[in-house]
Amino acid sequence: MKDNKQRPIGVFDSGIGGLTNVRALMERLPMENIVYFGDTARVPYGVKSRATIETFTAQIVEFLLQHEVKALVVACNTIAAVAVNKVRAMAGNMPVLDVITAGAEAAWQTTRNGRIGIMATSTTVNSNAYARAIHSRNPAARVQSQACPLLVPLVEEGWLDHEVTRLTAREYLRPLLAEDIDTLVLGCTHYPLLKPLLKEEAPGISLVDSAITTAEATAQSLMAAGLLNTDNPSADYRFYVSDIPLRFRTIGERFLGRSMDQIEMVSLG
Ligand code: DGL
Repeated sequence: MKDNKQRPIGVFDSGIGGLTNVRALMERLPMENIVYFGDTARVPYGVKSRATIETFTAQIVEFLLQHEVKALVVACNTIAAVAVNKVRAMAGNMPVLDVITAGAEAAWQTTRNGRIGIMATSTTVNSNAYARAIHSRNPAARVQSQACPLLVPLVEEGWLDHEVTRLTAREYLRPLLAEDIDTLVLGCTHYPLLKPLLKEEAPGISLVDSAITTAEATAQSLMAAGLLNTDNPSADYRFYVSDIPLRFRTIGERFLGRSMDQIEMVSLG
């Protein structure tokens, strides 16, 4: 068994989108080793049922626990929305961080007028998880959610500043802006890549990037648990996926903002 602090953080997602979280973790916690699992063979989760997502999630967590992780980061909003309790039950005493808790916390701290918009996948929106998490902090907040199923494929296509993406985003933003929101939660792993475009389409609105807020929450939680790695100048990053589709590396490196050296394919279940 490795020294507790040297053990890696386990980060997981339905596919490669969670690399936006890994990127934020690398920047915030450069001495932490990271093991990432992306379920690229079964993505997208955002249109699947709770039961299926729970089954897949249990398999992923089991895989990461075998890697002796010291904490788990649920990078996928959809998993966080419907299966975080399953993750916590399997993790025992280990810190579990998730994008919805961190995003909701940041949203209510950011808003001035109490009106918060959420953009997310259909499963996340239907679960109402963001609204519940925000209301548990501020029952008076007004939360307006919008499912944006077309944005994930557009981001994966690399159309980050494309007219089609702009028109699609504009359409999804319309009902949110009509509610006079002052804060918008990017409730899906892929949306942080659309920040420049969303800033233009929703001027004056504060964007909450759950990748960044989750990295900060992870830092706080590791510190509180005495698990922060402060002596690891060359951190180790391992990426596991359930399929390596064509263009995987190109898309992955776009999300990560750097090259991916150690990618391995494993099959679960
Ligand atoms: N990772 C998912 C999320 O953050 C988006 C992709 C999917 O639908 O699986 O909700």
